[in-house]
Amino acid sequence: MRRPPNIDELLQRMTLAEKIGQLNLLSAGEGPETGSAHSRDIRARLEAGQLGAIFGTKSVRSVRAWQEIAVEGSRHGIPLLFAEDVIHGHRTIFPLPVALVCSWDMALVRATARVAATEAAAEGINQVYAPMLDIARDARWGRIAESPGEDPFLAARYAEAMVGGLQGDDLTALDTVAACLKHFLAYGAAAGGRDYDNASLAPAELIGVYAEPFRAGVAAGAASVMAAFNAVNGCPMHAHRGLIEGWLRGVCGFDGLVVADYTGVHELIAHGLGDRATVAARALLAGVDMDMIGEDYLACLPELAEAGLSRPEAALDLAAPAIIAAIDRSCRRVLSLKQRLGLFEDPYRYCDEARAKGAALAAPHRDLARRAVAASCVLLRNEGVLPLKPGSRVALIGRLGDDRANMLGTWAVSGDPGQAVTILEGLRAVHDGPVDHAKGANIVDDADIAARLDVFGPTVLPDPRPEAELIAEALALAARADVVVLVAGEAKEHSGESSSRTELDIPAPQRRLLEALAQAGKPIALVVMAGRSLVLARESRLADALLLAWFGGTEAGHGIADVLTGRAEPGGRLAVSLPACSGQVPIHHGAETTGRPWTGQFQKFRTGYLDLPGEIPPARGLYPFGFGLGYTRFEWGEPRVTPASPGGPDARVTVAVTIRNAGDRRGTEVVQLYVSDPVARIVRPSQELKGFERVTLDPGEAREVRFTLARDDLTYLVGDSVEGLSRVWDPGSFILRLGPNSRDLTSIEITWND
Ligand code: BGC
Repeated sequence: MRRPPNIDELLQRMTLAEKIGQLNLLSAGEGPETGSAHSRDIRARLEAGQLGAIFGTKSVRSVRAWQEIAVEGSRHGIPLLFAEDVIHGHRTIFPLPVALVCSWDMALVRATARVAATEAAAEGINQVYAPMLDIARDARWGRIAESPGEDPFLAARYAEAMVGGLQGDDLTALDTVAACLKHFLAYGAAAGGRDYDNASLAPAELIGVYAEPFRAGVAAGAASVMAAFNAVNGCPMHAHRGLIEGWLRGVCGFDGLVVADYTGVHELIAHGLGDRATVAARALLAGVDMDMIGEDYLACLPELAEAGLSRPEAALDLAAPAIIAAIDRSCRRVLSLKQRLGLFEDPYRYCDEARAKGAALAAPHRDLARRAVAASCVLLRNEGVLPLKPGSRVALIGRLGDDRANMLGTWAVSGDPGQAVTILEGLRAVHDGPVDHAKGANIVDDADIAARLDVFGPTVLPDPRPEAELIAEALALAARADVVVLVAGEAKEHSGESSSRTELDIPAPQRRLLEALAQAGKPIALVVMAGRSLVLARESRLADALLLAWFGGTEAGHGIADVLTGRAEPGGRLAVSLPACSGQVPIHHGAETTGRPWTGQFQKFRTGYLDLPGEIPPARGLYPFGFGLGYTRFEWGEPRVTPASPGGPDARVTVAVTIRNAGDRRGTEVVQLYVSDPVARIVRPSQELKGFERVTLDPGEAREVRFTLARDDLTYLVGDSVEGLSRVWDPGSFILRLGPNSRDLTSIEITWND
């Protein structure tokens, strides 16, 4: 154990070059690269004292080797930070974030983060690039898979749970890691759902919706934040001083480390902000402390610190002292995080081969993952097919029904697909009856798409036989079975980074397979594998049961089988609305009301679409946010509100409802509270989620669920600029809505006076 340094003294002893070195962040080159690398020579950088952190190591051995060079081979012995993309698990892979959020179970989310931190920390990793907190309302955007979904309130609870699980109470503990909230800000609001595209948002929506999970994550103590690739209202986030230094640090009180995303500083050149020196200066001054991959800080800051920078064409005039002060400030943040992690005392404290071996995929971790799968599966429709009848002969059909390569889903960079449980294995292990499998169709039939899906290795693995032969084989299997379980959907890289899609359907060959099977007359339970909210209109018509299983991770096969056989409840409730057709996105449950609402009396001249079936509200989708079925039935009592007419700033309102399990098996209901503000100074969302509670009851059991609202819960932001935002509320009428999803709600109107 060494004595931790005094950071002020250390900074005084460091040269400018050494400080700039601390701001450089490179990849170990052992994982995926999402852009071009400027330097792969980590050893040379380390020996020259030009590296502060490495991400993407895959073993204790490599962490230890790099750390040794950093500590033993440099003047001040400053240890490296080791970071990794631990998005939904490290070695034990949990369901995709968007799936996990569907559990609405924040204790579960926290437990998965705890496991991820334990596994990662044992391998020497001390910072993880998670949680991803980008609100996503446009399913064309592939990174909706990593997101907490469409709703800021739910996403904020996810942020708190993830930060709590990853960081615990003590960052020096051997089983905790520093969280990194990403991608700040509004990456999920990309124009057209195209990854990396820019966002244009009114300040109140930017802060009130998109920044809300970041506010919650900071309040929960997150140690770091990553900047987003996109521009917001014309300013790229890597240069957005107003949002990073102004809002995040100034308003929100964040005092941790801000890292760039992969070549994010360098990409400011392509954004049109100027040459390498200009963008390095802009990013540093904006508050981006560490430069990932691009090495613009390393290349440009020494000279900038000497000469300053004058670029009239970029409206930039910076004196050298301002640059030097910013370098000092950022270096201090890097060193402080290393200090908080206890790395100065023992740079190898997190490196432990034995602990790493024992932690990875440990039995309790896998058990938790299996539970998390069942808790994330959303049952959308069930005409008496599920749970499968004991003894029934099951025809398990679908290329994804016996698949390991896709099960982990996107961004599982340290997961081993070989460890994943297939649905066939899972079902055979728990179903009391024969289970036979046929592929029935390939995942896709377009060679170009297949090649793009295989970017990180083979996942499409096409069967060369003609489509008719594959379908005939499936039909023959179905003919002999009591029930068909068809598994269809996306390949893992259909969603994820740079995997935006214009059509949100299940790929064509699998759709044709479903159509053929539907003719065969056997009941069909369709299990959908996906990383985004797909359009399932046709599938809802053709299948008797519809289970959205997302990508479930290592234990996907077991967890899905548990749900199919009724060993577990399908616990999921949608964290994203499912559109009725691709043209309906972006979509979310709280769309603003308009002057010509869809419910208006003039058939044609109202807000909606000509070609959307009349029964589907244009802003709601086929399956609403918060929706999901279980295997039992709940009866809801009348909601009660006390007091009905509150007044004064400190007033509280309690809303209560009693629910009863009226079915014959134990089950879970997620009680959801929404609030509408029907008369306000500006147009408000049609409704906002303000509370939820998961309630698990035995048959016949009843429970009262209560929510308390304060006046603060009714406030909202107004203002024409981020700096000018203020929080207001409009006394008078409010409508409280309670129900099991964002559509099926019972409303009570209250009057809340000043
Ligand atoms: C992604 C980040 C990720 C980083 C490092 C980027 O392409 O946007 O989410 O943390 O790569 O792997």
